[in-house]
Amino acid sequence: MTASSFAQGVYLVAAVLFVLSLAGLSKQESARRGNVLGMIGMGLALAATFVLAVDRSERAPVVTALLIVLVLATGAVVGTVRARRVEMTQMPELIAILHSFVGAAAVLVGINSFLTGQQDAALLEGLGGGGQDAVHLVEVYLGVLIGAVTFTGSVVAFLKLSARIRSAPLQLPGRNLLNLAALLVCAGLMVWFLAAPSLAPLLLMTLVALALGWHLVASIGGGDMPVVVSMLNSYSGWAAAAAGFMLGNDLLVVTGALVGSSGAILSYLMCRAMNRSFVSVILGGFGAEEGTVVAGGDADLGEHREVRAPEVAELLRAARSVVITPGYGMAVAKAQYPVAELVAKLRAGGTQVRFGVHPVAGRLPGHMNVLLAEAKVPYDIVLEMDEINDELAGTDVVLVIGANDTVNPAAAEDPASPIAGMPVLRVWEAGQVVVFKRSMATGYAGVQNPLFFRDNTAMLFGDAKEQVERIVAELVEAGVRA
Ligand code: TAP
Repeated sequence: MTASSFAQGVYLVAAVLFVLSLAGLSKQESARRGNVLGMIGMGLALAATFVLAVDRSERAPVVTALLIVLVLATGAVVGTVRARRVEMTQMPELIAILHSFVGAAAVLVGINSFLTGQQDAALLEGLGGGGQDAVHLVEVYLGVLIGAVTFTGSVVAFLKLSARIRSAPLQLPGRNLLNLAALLVCAGLMVWFLAAPSLAPLLLMTLVALALGWHLVASIGGGDMPVVVSMLNSYSGWAAAAAGFMLGNDLLVVTGALVGSSGAILSYLMCRAMNRSFVSVILGGFGAEEGTVVAGGDADLGEHREVRAPEVAELLRAARSVVITPGYGMAVAKAQYPVAELVAKLRAGGTQVRFGVHPVAGRLPGHMNVLLAEAKVPYDIVLEMDEINDELAGTDVVLVIGANDTVNPAAAEDPASPIAGMPVLRVWEAGQVVVFKRSMATGYAGVQNPLFFRDNTAMLFGDAKEQVERIVAELVEAGVRA
């Protein structure tokens, strides 16, 4: 068997494993298996590519092998150190910066592929052959274009998510026209590039695409960042697929297409969850429309009511049904463990307890589900927003633990609100609502929340973990055992 046919066979197995991995990741119960299958697939893919590269090497095979091992080891060490250190709340930033690597790789592979193609074409010309194939040139051009947009877009997303730059949208005058002009310039440069292949139009386009990626994401407000990260995930997939075409690597084409399409589907689902059109997200963020007044900013929403942990414990003991809606604050406080303990105690006492999880609660898709699974909360009591919303009106007590935007009634009731139209958990319909947070500060979208001032809402100020622990202690003292 030649190295090439061996690699093709292994690539096929890896591609099937990647598809099975994605299928596994679609459900919480099978997510761990999905991850393992993906890791095995990637291990096989790396091994086959290694064999192929060494076999095709023009220099001494041992030198090529050593170079690859060196690069792999460096990447593995950096990746392992980073992944071990990263907090769950920093995952979106990490994902954003990883996408930027894919984008940068696509740009470098594209330029490299063009230069080697030019060398081969020059040799062939000496032998009476033609220039570079037009299809290859289009692959190179599109690969570099998508890669460059992904690179700077992801860097800006990283800077915004890690609060290194302001998350408010950059509002340059005529920003949509600027984007359109950049695309038209890229189209014009493509014509030049195909008519007379040279580095000049390719590099000029790279500069324009870098600026376009930067501007596209800088114009999008913080509230829409989840969609942007998933959109960049999709772009990075297409950039990888383009690199696969350039390198003639089928597995990279398959993997890129899987990432590209799953990222696009996720972006679509997120937009649907926020009741926003994909195009409007890409062309501007929350509150980015000119002339929108930030609702609730200075408006007098009335007085809020405060409670303390013992009163909440009392309320919970009297409740027959409780729904917990977790948000970003639960992740920050790492309150999922005492929350799981609280749930176990209440359930042992005969109370019906369920979780209502908003699709964009926290800072990354599935954030709350991961935390709750980590704390061993049973899957069957963790419901999605659509499953729990109609049940909230018949619920005695809702505990809003570190959530804010995802339970904001202004989204449903105030058409002037920057988050108007975003579906939210209608917690205010329940008998009693207790909001766990540290202050009256706004959430991620920077919008005040009228829920806090409703008659049936009480605020429990303080760190969510400490407060839940206090409530658990009160329940234990009152004789509730799990
Ligand atoms: P947010 O609206 O971000 O509000 C979280 C609240 O938690 C804050 O108001 C904060 O209030 C409170 N908090 C922070 N630390 C706390 C602690 N230690 N103890 C108790 N409370 C604490 O949360 P959400 O309802 O989950 O909404 C998510 C938002 O993030 C949405 O706007 C969404 O669009 C956006 N977003 C989502 C994603 C994804 S994919 N999920 C990604 C990026 C952005 P205090 O400061 O007063 O404590």
